[in-house]
Order: sequence, then C-alpha cells, then structure tokens
Amino acid sequence: MKSVKAFAPATVANMVCGYDILGFAVNEPGDTVELILNDSGVVTLDHISGDGGLLPKDAQKNIASAVVMQYLSGIGKSQGVSVKLYKGMPLNSGMGSSSASSVAALLAINHLMGEPLSRVQLLPFAMEGERLACGSAHADNVAPALLGGLVLVRSSNPVDPIKLPVPEGLFCTLVHPHVDVPTSESRRILKERIAVRDAITQWGNVAGMVAGFCTNNKALIGRSMEDIIFEPIRAMLIPQFYEMKQKALELGALGFGISGSGPTIFALTEDKLVAEKIAKALPDILSVNNTHADSHVCTINTTGAAIL
Ligand code: HSE
Repeated sequence: MKSVKAFAPATVANMVCGYDILGFAVNEPGDTVELILNDSGVVTLDHISGDGGLLPKDAQKNIASAVVMQYLSGIGKSQGVSVKLYKGMPLNSGMGSSSASSVAALLAINHLMGEPLSRVQLLPFAMEGERLACGSAHADNVAPALLGGLVLVRSSNPVDPIKLPVPEGLFCTLVHPHVDVPTSESRRILKERIAVRDAITQWGNVAGMVAGFCTNNKALIGRSMEDIIFEPIRAMLIPQFYEMKQKALELGALGFGISGSGPTIFALTEDKLVAEKIAKALPDILSVNNTHADSHVCTINTTGAAIL
C-alpha cells in the first residue's frame, strides 16, 4: 500500500502588528503526519502521539483526518486512508499547532493523489481546519506553514498569500509559558471596533514591516513590531508579559511580541547568542511565580512543509 510522511513547521502568526494577515514559519518544532492508502473507502485516525491524550480521536473531529476527508471530497475522490499523527509541539500554545497538523496532512494526501493541487490551492482546506480548531478560518498560520518564510495574507476570501523576502541571519526565540490559552478564547476577548487613529498606527506598522522585509532593513522591521490594538488585551493572559518584553529588548532583541494567540511569546534577533540569552532569561522570569516554560531558538523556515 502507498504511504507517505510529511512534516509541517510551527508558525508565528500576526508578526505582532499584522493580526490575521502576517505570519512566518520556523524550522522547528513541528508536526508529522503519516498517511497509508487502503481499499476501505473511509478515512480513519489510527494513531495520535505527543498530545497528552487531549486531541479528539474521532476522525471527523480531529483536524489531521478531517482535512483529508475535506480534500478528498473537494477533488471528488473516494479513497480509504489511515491517518497517523505525531504531534511535535504543545496544543493551545500559539505556535500554530493545529495548522501544522492540517498542513502536514494536506501535503501528504495531495502527494499520494499525484499532486492535483498546488500548495496555494491547498490553503482553503487548511483554513477550514483552522475553523474546526478555533471557529475562525484565518490563514496566517497555515499559509507560512505551507509556503514557508514570511507570508502576507492580503485577502482571505479568496485567499491571496504573498510570500515576502526574508533577510538572512534572523533568529527567533520562542518561549512557551505553561498556561492554557485556547485560541477561541484569546480571540473572543478582543474588541470588535477600533478607533481610526489606532488603525492608522497599526497599518503604518504593517506597511513598515512589509517594507522592512522587502528592503532587508532590520531596524525598520524592529520598530514596526508594535501592536497597540490587540497586544494590550492578550498580554493580560500571559504571566509577566511586560517584564519579559523589557528583558528581551534589553538583551538586544529587534522586537518582541505574542506568537499567534499566545501564550507563547517570541523575540526576533540578529544574533544567535542574543537569541540564546533570551531563551534562558525569560523562563527565569516566569519561574519567579512558579510558571514553567520551555524555549526554542529557531531559524526561519523558508521552504514550508515537506514530504519526508
Ligand atoms: N491570527 C490568529 C490569532 C492566530 O491571533 O488569533 C492564531 O491562530
């Protein structure tokens, strides 16, 4: 029987100021999905590991198998598939955990079907996976997980992802405090309406970020990493957020912010040593109030999900 394994990386959505429209992929951690074709005519979920027993075991409800079903129905095929999901990152962490599972599964099934769809054509299926996971079909995790690099999602419907150039030599420190922040809850608390003057500040920063990446201007990237609309609300869900921000910037980070919907925070740096110092210092700050955390020093993944 034909089988394949695919890996999809963790992602940092929003890139601070670009709520639901900017995100980048990192080299690790990530999820692996294995698919095995069979003659049963049905999609089954036959293995999950690394989730602490928390993910749904029902194939209709688990994102990895659900997107395979939606994909097969979308291309008009009835095919038996056994799905195995190997989680390599924590759930509800803000690192794009659900998107890594759906993207790895979609890349794998598309490969087994002879690649009838391009990566961009897989995006709507991955976005439906996000809807299943948190109630909203945003693309700022799934687009960079599929395409790699930093992606601007100019429009979600129809989805219009624009891959931006990424300067060499950037490092990303991810620090995951062990507190539970479900994406649906972290979205629910945000305000529906914003003042025009705040919108002007925010879109100035989004444009600055895009210009910084396109012109390899790291100082511009750094000073555009500011979110005056959503961060002040979400920061309340993250222990010692502002102490960590101050420390990361003191240690030399270009910028600092919440990764996706949190609670993971990230710092972007130009220097691996600085990235490592931040990875050590921020968990120390959290430990003062007995919050455990793990940290990763990553590089930007420029190629996206891969068949293994
Ligand atoms: N843009 C999304 C959010 C990413 O901030 O809610 C999390 O999935």
